[in-house]
Amino acid sequence: MVPTFHLREFRFPQDYDSVFSLWQTAGEGIHVARSDMPEEIEKKLARDPDLFLVAENESGIIGTIIGGFDGRRGMMYHLAVSSKYRQKGVASALVTELETRLKGKGCMRMYLLVYPENRPAIDFYEKRNYKKMNVDVYGKDLL
Ligand SMILES: CC(C)(COP(=O)(O)OP(=O)(O)OC[C@H]1O[C@@H](n2cnc3c(N)ncnc32)[C@H](O)[C@@H]1OP(=O)(O)O)[C@@H](O)C(=O)NCCC(=O)NCCS
Repeated sequence: MVPTFHLREFRFPQDYDSVFSLWQTAGEGIHVARSDMPEEIEKKLARDPDLFLVAENESGIIGTIIGGFDGRRGMMYHLAVSSKYRQKGVASALVTELETRLKGKGCMRMYLLVYPENRPAIDFYEKRNYKKMNVDVYGKDLL
């Protein structure tokens, strides 16, 4: 079947408003925070611009994924697909492409964070061989 969307790297600033609006409307699974402000996104892009991907079709941006690689582990953030375009393989394509790019950088293992009540996302990840880890995640604001 011919895909009705394509993947490409996020472009700043032209894609920012559409992506931010997608995150705001994606539901409880995506919490928009200060790290999503334009200046923080620019900071992120200075590091691995090739790991922030979007899915696009004739209507515009319909999906996002932000990847990261710190030289040891990979991370996945903000996997989101517009509700109208779910169940069409968009997130699967984004995850597969991020995994390929991380592998290409020599990344052996990657992580993601998911809220325990986000059952649809958990099912999605588990079907793609992501395993729940028995650790607590701690965070601290530095700035
Ligand atoms: C979780 C989320 C990203 C999944 O996105 P999606 O694009 O619907 O995911 P996909 O379409 O790739 O896969 C979903 C299902 O659709 C099925 N599917 C894929 N292509 C299909 C097609 N052409 N027709 C019908 N079904 C299809 C897939 O097989 C998959 O089912 P499976 O998990 O049983 O294998 C999306 O629900 C979302 O944005 N949720 C809100 C934000 C969120 O919570 N993100 C996670 C943060 S941790």
